[in-house]
Amino acid sequence: MSGTSAVLCLYLVYGLMQQMEASILSCIPRKTVTYQNGNIKTFMKPGLSNFSTLLVSEETDILFVGARDAIFALDLNDISRKIASEDWFATRDRQLECIRRGKDKVDCRNYILLLHKINDTSLYVCGTNAFYPACDYMVINSTDIHLQGKAEESRGRCPFEPTLKYASLLVDSAFYSATSNNFLGTEPIILRSLRNHLRTEFKASWLNEPSFVYMDIVPESGSNPDGDDDKIYVFFTETAVEFEFYDKLLVSRIARVCKGDLGGKRILQKRWTSFLKSRLICSVPESNFQFNIVQDVFLLKRADWRESMFYGIFTQQWGRLDISAVCAFSMKTVQEVFAKGNYKGPVTVEHSHVKWMVFRGEVPLPRPGACIDNFARSIGYNTSLDLPDKILQFVRDHPLMDNAVNPIGDRPVLLKRGSNYTRIVVDRITGLDKKTYNVLFIGTDNGYLHKALNCDGEMFIMEEIQLFQSPEPVQSLKLSSKKGLLYVGSPSQVVQLPVSVCSRYKHCLDCVLARDPYCAWSESFEKCVPVANQTGDLRDLIQSVKNGDASKCPKIGNNVKNCPVIIGNSVHLKCAPMSNLARMVWKFNGSSLQAEESKYLLYDGGIVIFNVTVADAGFYDCHSVERANGKEFPVSVASYVLYTQQDSIFIITKNYTTNQPNADTTLKVKSLVSSSLLNDPAKQKSLEDQKEKLILKFLGAGFALLFSSLLVWNFYKGHLSVPWKSREKSSKTANADCLPGPTLATEGSGAMRKSSATRTNTSTVNESVPLVSFPSEEERSANVQHNTSLTKRSGTCSSQSCLVEDETMFPIAECGM
Ligand SMILES: *[C@@H]1O[C@H](CO)[C@@H](O)[C@H](O)[C@H]1NC(C)=O
Ligand SMILES: *[C@@H]1O[C@H](CO)[C@@H](O)[C@H](O)[C@H]1NC(C)=O
Ligand SMILES: *[C@@H]1O[C@H](CO)[C@@H](O)[C@H](O)[C@H]1NC(C)=O
Ligand SMILES: *[C@@H]1O[C@H](CO)[C@@H](O)[C@H](O)[C@H]1NC(C)=O
Ligand SMILES: *[C@@H]1O[C@H](CO)[C@@H](O)[C@H](O)[C@H]1NC(C)=O
Ligand SMILES: *[C@@H]1O[C@H](CO)[C@@H](O)[C@H](O)[C@H]1NC(C)=O
Ligand SMILES: *[C@@H]1O[C@H](CO)[C@@H](O)[C@H](O)[C@H]1NC(C)=O
Ligand SMILES: *[C@@H]1O[C@H](CO)[C@@H](O)[C@H](O)[C@H]1NC(C)=O
Ligand SMILES: *[C@@H]1O[C@H](CO)[C@@H](O)[C@H](O)[C@H]1NC(C)=O
Ligand SMILES: *[C@@H]1O[C@H](CO)[C@@H](O)[C@H](O)[C@H]1NC(C)=O
Ligand SMILES: *[C@@H]1O[C@H](CO)[C@@H](O)[C@H](O)[C@H]1NC(C)=O
Ligand SMILES: *[C@@H]1O[C@H](CO)[C@@H](O)[C@H](O)[C@H]1NC(C)=O
Repeated sequence: MSGTSAVLCLYLVYGLMQQMEASILSCIPRKTVTYQNGNIKTFMKPGLSNFSTLLVSEETDILFVGARDAIFALDLNDISRKIASEDWFATRDRQLECIRRGKDKVDCRNYILLLHKINDTSLYVCGTNAFYPACDYMVINSTDIHLQGKAEESRGRCPFEPTLKYASLLVDSAFYSATSNNFLGTEPIILRSLRNHLRTEFKASWLNEPSFVYMDIVPESGSNPDGDDDKIYVFFTETAVEFEFYDKLLVSRIARVCKGDLGGKRILQKRWTSFLKSRLICSVPESNFQFNIVQDVFLLKRADWRESMFYGIFTQQWGRLDISAVCAFSMKTVQEVFAKGNYKGPVTVEHSHVKWMVFRGEVPLPRPGACIDNFARSIGYNTSLDLPDKILQFVRDHPLMDNAVNPIGDRPVLLKRGSNYTRIVVDRITGLDKKTYNVLFIGTDNGYLHKALNCDGEMFIMEEIQLFQSPEPVQSLKLSSKKGLLYVGSPSQVVQLPVSVCSRYKHCLDCVLARDPYCAWSESFEKCVPVANQTGDLRDLIQSVKNGDASKCPKIGNNVKNCPVIIGNSVHLKCAPMSNLARMVWKFNGSSLQAEESKYLLYDGGIVIFNVTVADAGFYDCHSVERANGKEFPVSVASYVLYTQQDSIFIITKNYTTNQPNADTTLKVKSLVSSSLLNDPAKQKSLEDQKEKLILKFLGAGFALLFSSLLVWNFYKGHLSVPWKSREKSSKTANADCLPGPTLATEGSGAMRKSSATRTNTSTVNESVPLVSFPSEEERSANVQHNTSLTKRSGTCSSQSCLVEDETMFPIAECGM
């Protein structure tokens, strides 16, 4: 055994090293919800694709969808119900022209990328129109949608290229767009059209190869003592101009313009006089993670705009590309940077060399780039047209703030390895403790939705929900807070899902430890119920979002299942942990079973007891133990009473003995590391570790099993004819939910049936094929996916970062053995 121990020690050291890196990176979703359990409604049509644009209209109960060559109006309550649709193709000539100019045939279609509501009966719609962007008005009545057919060329409003990122906004009948202004995609622009046309200067100091991701308005004029204007914020990634760097360095930006901007009179005529931008920071100070690429942003609006927040998803340009970060930015910081920050601009030094320098001189008044406010008006500047040339010149030459916008807490609110985040929306919900929580819904590039909780700087991923049957990127994500529904667009479909499904939590502990502010445990109904609709006595409800304190949950007993076993056989008792963060503890007659005893094989699907003896008879309790708020909460998931049978009853299925004695010699032994796990993002990363541990474990377990298998083989040889009695037993044990090991087969399980006696072919034993059969039993607790892992992860999301420890299977004490 000492050889094995040495390997274990090496393994532990290696594991520790990995954990150090893992600790700041992985926040494991507490539950994994498969597609089947996701309560998902789908809209898809053969031949149609690229459902990339969604518009939620709560007033009319319609979800508008922009796809390739078509627009749909779907029922907001059930998107599988189509209300109306309208095709919009690029003309044949346009398509041919597009192909002639060297573009791919599939891109020379009309991708509907913009949908904006003008009023309840009218939409503004834009499509790429075979690299000839066009916008049109769409009229809606209760049964029908149709385009007005007045499409006009709309460069600068809609991208030419369907894959380019862009942002747009329609407010007060003015249309703001951030995209490319030419066919080649080389001229970036932030444009206001339909009313009071204005645009950005075409200068690298203003926009340098930007990739726009988001745009929204903050109504800063609301109850503003300074008489300030509303502002439109634009988020993008661009190539940095201000640093001298050997390589193309990307930076994330936040830029803003004033709604009331009218351009300058002589200088900056028809150009923004209020365009200012700043660097958006998302990094981990103590490591060298620089998340410099912004992927998506969401403005969490509040009644008082000063409390609004921006949430952004970021990735890195270099290094670990599979890490995504979420950073939050407060309005206060954003405002301060633009209102008080220093300006930066290009200065020509040594003839032709341009260097970006902080402006240290005296800044003219009114402050360049500021909106027209009470102060400006007081000195006679009523609109931007009145501004003196000196101010406008300064703005034109200094569009960049030297100060950067730092995230709240100076670090990401969430770091996730192994998932590429693509879209984010945030909902605000008040819990039973009267505290309001921000719940983040984040789409990934492989078709999952993460639901995370952000409270007091702590991040906790409640669930990861599989959105599509096969992996696809989440291309758009919208929330109807009022309806409690989310809408997701992908290349092949649109799906709808509720923000929460409380009924998924079966136990009180499960419900409370989920920390889902939408749900609470009702003691009188003994169910996890949605909080929103609770009108009755709220004292009946248990919820602990902030702490995950489940101590108020009533203790529950389990039905004890009978489990008869023949001495010398092995037995498998089923039990699955309640969540991805739980670990299992087995108790025998009240005291914990030690995992390292080769007598037992403990894994996430239950326990296998090898070579049962009289001493093994007794009570087996399986607890799923989850840590929250520094406390451990065990919940008894299954209880068995094991009793031995002395008489030599051998249970085997009829079909095996009569019809197909050697039908299946290649055993359907399920590898413990089931392939289904490979599709499970939460577990992928630890899979390799688990495999190693598993193999090690089996080296030990294999010996014991070998012996028992041999016994069984002999046993089997002597008892080919099955007593009638045995079949009664067989069904009885199946009902008892006690799934015996190698020698018993239950009628309910096809896989078991075949595997019974052939399992005894011990000559084939080798370490990559576990000997034990794991019944393809009735599905386990709906959300728990791991069939197999030998390790448990106990995760704690402490403040600032999520800490996850891999609790190793083997206690360190074993090292010296
Ligand atoms: C909605 O907007 C369209 C386009 O601007 C306009 O023609 C129509 O009159 C508006 N309808 C209402 C009810 O305001
Ligand atoms: C909706 O518009 C269609 C097409 O213009 C028209 O046939 C239909 O009568 C309209 N329905 C209502 C309720 O106005
Ligand atoms: C995430 O993106 C990186 C870089 O593009 C890629 O290598 C990785 O495979 C992606 N991961 C997933 C889970 O899609
Ligand atoms: C600004 O508005 C005030 C009051 O409306 C007016 O008296 C003043 O002449 C205006 N100034 C300019 C430069 O238009
Ligand atoms: C359109 O959808 C197809 C798959 O249906 C996908 O391969 C392609 O990348 C999508 N194009 C865009 C622009 O999203
Ligand atoms: C909440 O109550 C309203 C009105 O009673 C009902 O329409 C709605 O379906 C309920 N929502 C949930 C989630 O039970
Ligand atoms: C376990 O408990 C059962 C029932 O009380 C008892 O028969 C058995 O001897 C106990 N086994 C051990 C090892 O304590
Ligand atoms: C079991 O055998 C009977 C005939 O003896 C056959 O009809 C039945 O289909 C078999 N069941 C299975 C699952 O093979
Ligand atoms: C099973 O247990 C009995 C009693 O402890 C022991 O004599 C026997 O060697 C064991 N068999 C195996 C295969 O471990
Ligand atoms: C099982 O053993 C028999 C003889 O004992 C042998 O013929 C057969 O090939 C073995 N099966 C496998 C899968 O190795
Ligand atoms: C172990 O079993 C697997 C699966 O049957 C087989 O592919 C592999 O060759 C075997 N290895 C050894 C060393 O027998
Ligand atoms: C367990 O693995 C089997 C295949 O090995 C699979 O059919 C089953 O769905 C898995 N169960 C769960 C809960 O993942």
